[in-house]
Amino acid sequence: MSAWFALAWQSRLKRRSASFAAVALVVLLCVFASTRLAQAQTAKPGAAAAVTCATCHAGVSASYAHAPMRHALENPGANPVLDTHPKLTVQMGAYTYTVQTKDGQSTYTVSDGTDSMTLPIRWDFGQQSQTWVLEKDGNLYEGLVSYFHRDQALATTPGDGRITPHNLTEAMGRKLNAWEVNQCFNCHATNALDGVRLKLNTLTPGLDCERCHVGVEQHMADAIHDNFTTLPKKLKTMDAEDAANFCGQCHRTWDTVVRNGWKGVVDVRFQPYRLENSKCFTGNDRRISCLTCHDPHQPVNHNDAVYDSKCLACHGGGKASKVATAAAPPTAKACPVAKANCVSCHMQKVELPGGHAVFTDHMIRIVKAGEPYPD
Ligand code: HEC
Ligand code: HEC
Ligand code: HEC
Ligand code: HEC
Ligand code: HEC
Ligand code: HEC
Ligand code: HEC
Repeated sequence: MSAWFALAWQSRLKRRSASFAAVALVVLLCVFASTRLAQAQTAKPGAAAAVTCATCHAGVSASYAHAPMRHALENPGANPVLDTHPKLTVQMGAYTYTVQTKDGQSTYTVSDGTDSMTLPIRWDFGQQSQTWVLEKDGNLYEGLVSYFHRDQALATTPGDGRITPHNLTEAMGRKLNAWEVNQCFNCHATNALDGVRLKLNTLTPGLDCERCHVGVEQHMADAIHDNFTTLPKKLKTMDAEDAANFCGQCHRTWDTVVRNGWKGVVDVRFQPYRLENSKCFTGNDRRISCLTCHDPHQPVNHNDAVYDSKCLACHGGGKASKVATAAAPPTAKACPVAKANCVSCHMQKVELPGGHAVFTDHMIRIVKAGEPYPD
């Protein structure tokens, strides 16, 4: 049991009528396990070496293969963005940047008109918009220019706008300290860290199943031996606060944002923080959990209408809802204005400064024309 889960579990038991939840869970687990184990045993996997998560969880694995989180980091040669944009250039002040891709190899060049520096691109961060982490003389740098999906072009990397380079190396990128490097790879890759040691040569780029399903090694060993002794933790049973903290490991928790004093429009990227600030949020109510609106194995759904039922589970306007729990009233007020496409008015789209992208404000509210961004 991971320390995180142990803590979450303890605090949940404290917050809830413990015995019922625990008994119900054990009963459920047993019923599930016995029926599904029987299914798994009838469909025995072939050679042990070929067994992967997909052998038994085909549906989840197939949909997750296309989710952006799977591709949060890529190696060269597996980068559709650079393959379809084989030559990108931009002029920034006195420097010219060129990102060139040929035969699956990409290079990043910066030139001041007299001298130039070319480095191979080894780490592509981001599936749509991309930032490249470059290596020079044993140090890692965040490229000073990034690729932006919306503009299909290069521009200054978000957060680096204040830097005025004095030489080619400074123009090439911002030198990352060891702590930053660890954080970068830990959020965008799997098995990046061994304690505090970065494992650049053996990490798996992107978020693999075990990045979230921590401790599935025993489950895999069981699968190979066709003898299930334990099952991975059920992440589905997290309440709204536990889910916000779990996803917040990378999307940033409420605590992290407050502790760092991140203010202003940039905090629209931190969905757990924004969501927890809205009047709709109650920590022990699953109807306002990240998992109610998002399947982490799928790309985000852009159809406003699919979220209506999630809002109406609480905003039934007096009608007791089927999924209502004792934790929150099923009868939060109904909207006096509209009956559908709730998020189009109450979850505002906000342009991220310097990000060349729009984010969705998870602080659900009545948006008033001309009001300043509430943080
Ligand atoms: C040989 C088949 C097999 C393989 C391989 C396998 N699993 Fe499972 N897994 C099962 C069975 C059977 C269950 C229990 C029944 C269920 O709930 O689906 C299960 C349960 C789970 C659960 C809990 C689901 C729940 O009910 O909440 C997770 C998470 C999970 N597996 C993830 C993985 C991951 C990640 C991998 C790869 C590292 C993997 N599994 C490999 C058969 C397998
Ligand atoms: C605490 C976890 C965390 C750290 C550390 C982190 N990222 Fe991210 N990164 C995220 C999350 C979550 C997203 C998706 C939401 C967003 O854009 O903020 C993201 C998005 C991105 C994107 C945009 C992807 C897209 O498709 O638009 C890029 C590029 C990126 N990160 C690069 C980096 C680089 C380079 C570093 C290190 C210098 C880094 N990140 C550090 C969590 C992290
Ligand atoms: C280990 C770090 C990590 C964790 C944990 C994590 N995410 Fe992410 N997430 C990312 C990164 C990095 C990206 C940006 C991927 C990209 O575009 O390159 C991302 C992107 C996303 C997106 C945008 C997908 C799209 O189609 O644009 C959604 C939605 C999302 N995450 C939801 C979740 C939810 C829900 C959870 C909790 C169950 C979660 N994430 C947990 C790192 C993480
Ligand atoms: C970003 C984190 C994240 C990643 C990566 C991830 N999962 Fe999950 N998974 C979750 C969460 C959270 C749940 C519980 C919520 C839910 O069921 O929607 C879950 C539920 C499951 C379940 C329970 C059955 C179900 O559909 O609810 C299975 C099985 C599973 N995951 C397998 C996998 C496999 C296999 C992979 C890799 C192909 C994977 N997961 C990658 C977070 C993740
Ligand atoms: C009540 C529903 C709801 C809940 C709860 C919710 N989201 Fe979202 N989320 C949305 C909607 C709607 C979008 C925008 C979809 C689109 O692109 O049109 C979105 C978009 C996102 C994106 C893509 C980037 C962006 O800002 O547009 C990420 C990442 C994300 N959510 C993460 C989370 C995380 C993490 C949680 C839990 C703290 C969470 N969401 C809870 C409804 C929800
Ligand atoms: C877990 C239950 C729950 C869910 C799910 C939920 N809300 Fe709420 N919401 C509340 C509660 C409780 C309040 C505060 C009391 C009230 O106004 O009835 C509230 C308040 C509001 C307000 C008024 C806020 C203000 O600034 O005065 C709006 C608007 C709103 N919700 C819209 C939504 C929308 C849109 C969704 C779906 C994206 C949603 N809610 C999902 C429970 C919920
Ligand atoms: C066309 C934009 C629009 C859409 C779509 C919309 N709303 Fe509203 N909503 C508003 C406005 C504007 C107000 C403020 C009305 C006022 O103060 O007179 C409001 C008010 C509310 C309130 C506060 C009610 C109160 O008495 O305090 C809630 C809750 C709410 N909406 C929920 C929802 C839900 C749930 C949906 C989807 C079923 C939804 N809204 C769809 C614009 C919209």
